[in-house]
Amino acid sequence: MALIRMVAMKVVHGGAWSLRHGRFSAAQRAQTIRAFSSLVSPPSKAVVYENHGSPDAVTRVIELPPVEVKENQVCVKMLAVPINPSDINRIEGVYPVRPQVPAVGGYEGVGEVYSVGSAVKDLSPGDWVIPSPPSFGTWQTYIVKEQDVWHKINKDSPMEYAATITVNPLTALRMLEDFTTLNSGDSIVQNGATSIVGQCIIQLARFRGIHSINIIRDRPGLDEVQEKLKALGADEVFTESQLEVKNVKGLLSSIPEPALGFNCVGGNAASLVLKFLRMGGTMVTYGGMSKKPITVSTSSFIFKDLSLKGFWLQKWLTSDKAKECRSMIDYLLCLAREGKLKYEMELVPFDNFHTALDKALGKLGSQPKQVIKF
Ligand SMILES: NC(=O)c1ccc[n+]([C@@H]2O[C@H](COP(=O)([O-])OP(=O)(O)OC[C@H]3O[C@@H](n4cnc5c(N)ncnc54)[C@H](OP(=O)(O)O)[C@@H]3O)[C@@H](O)[C@H]2O)c1
Repeated sequence: MALIRMVAMKVVHGGAWSLRHGRFSAAQRAQTIRAFSSLVSPPSKAVVYENHGSPDAVTRVIELPPVEVKENQVCVKMLAVPINPSDINRIEGVYPVRPQVPAVGGYEGVGEVYSVGSAVKDLSPGDWVIPSPPSFGTWQTYIVKEQDVWHKINKDSPMEYAATITVNPLTALRMLEDFTTLNSGDSIVQNGATSIVGQCIIQLARFRGIHSINIIRDRPGLDEVQEKLKALGADEVFTESQLEVKNVKGLLSSIPEPALGFNCVGGNAASLVLKFLRMGGTMVTYGGMSKKPITVSTSSFIFKDLSLKGFWLQKWLTSDKAKECRSMIDYLLCLAREGKLKYEMELVPFDNFHTALDKALGKLGSQPKQVIKF
């Protein structure tokens, strides 16, 4: 890094000196400025961590020196990035795949092409791009990566949706498709329904005529949250304590028993998903927000023949099916542009990163998804 900084300083200062002394014509001067600016990125402000640990303790914002933009590379000025639970787990050092420290935080986001290397043909300054599949180190103002890392998206997309479209909406889309054949009129059950994944599941299910039974944590302002989820298309919304009854299925009106359940939380919330499932049903675990294990009664296996499975997007992205990942992203972004896919987010200026981080860590109670705007 130090060497790159020295080289970058030399290039910039060398150019300035030559221009000041009038050695170049005006045209040469313009050409030189263009050449210099396409060779190196601007300095980048980044959220970095040198050790694993609690993100509020180990992250800090520093300035990284300019880096060279090679012929096949693209320099992207990042516009917005979310703080996802998996970003937190990577910094904590508890996520199975994580970058080596020291590292820049983040895994998805949206940016605008700032400059391109000489061999780049399909991207131009001003284009909006997302890293697809997502990749480490998005929490910084400028990123230089190979051109094929970047997927050009429609610039009419709302910025906060473009920043968040991969990790959670794509997970919701895949989980609805990949485990059980669901037909119009069927139902699913999920906990963690207020999460972005949960909100997407409700809406993507509804488009296909699939009912959703949703379980959330007890909270103040419950009516408002229930109303919001119903406005997205949720059929039923229960808190965990409302489900402390002998026969949870007796609470359902005309919805059929679900064959598929999604578990974002673990602990008691997972047991409640299992209680709703019909004979031979499947529960897919994709998150562990309560950090509590899943307990399954013996009778669930013997008499209900339930199946337990897991989903991990990062693994799915390495499969053959992931070749179509970019068209799935385009589909989801199209829904977002048309206002058919919505979820709650709070856009926060980069200067307030640490407040946003505290909210994402749950220190200030339930909060909408924090999206940093650079
Ligand atoms: N497996 C995969 O490939 C994959 C992909 C994407 C996401 N995920 C996982 O999916 C989960 C949701 O991610 P997201 O980004 O959609 O979430 P999010 O929008 O950041 O929302 C967090 C969710 O977690 C709930 N929550 C927070 N702390 C909790 C606790 N101690 N006990 C119970 N619930 C708690 C919140 O409920 P309240 O509203 O009650 O606060 C909210 O529903 C995370 O575990 C994430 O890692 C997994």
